Amino acid sequence: MEIVRLQGVGGLPPGESLVVEVSGRAIAIFNVEGELLAIDNACPHRGGPLASGEICGEIVTCPWHGWQMDIRTGACVNGPLARVATHRVLVDGADLLLVVRRQPERAPAIRQESTAEPDRKTI
Ligand code: FES
Repeated sequence: MEIVRLQGVGGLPPGESLVVEVSGRAIAIFNVEGELLAIDNACPHRGGPLASGEICGEIVTCPWHGWQMDIRTGACVNGPLARVATHRVLVDGADLLLVVRRQPERAPAIRQESTAEPDRKTI
């Protein structure tokens, strides 16, 4: 976790977004109907810039191929295994405090192997 002070951007208007870079990682901050929410800016599909997407309620649509992300939860509307990290945003006067979380875990590959002997019945 990393906390970053963003000076003078506390007045981000509703429906607008901005991108900040923290330790080489682009974070998109959205004003969703007066609430400031932040997610990683890179779309989990192919890295499209989510901050440039169209916002409808708490959903942002990636401008590259149309995947939709829930800005509050980071979940992808199009597929349950894709997601982006969410980050906390606090208002401190004219500044914002951005609490950056670590990268989201990738979903583990599903692989089933059994070392048990198959059931054998003797007749
Ligand atoms: S890069 Fe976002 S939908 Fe393809």
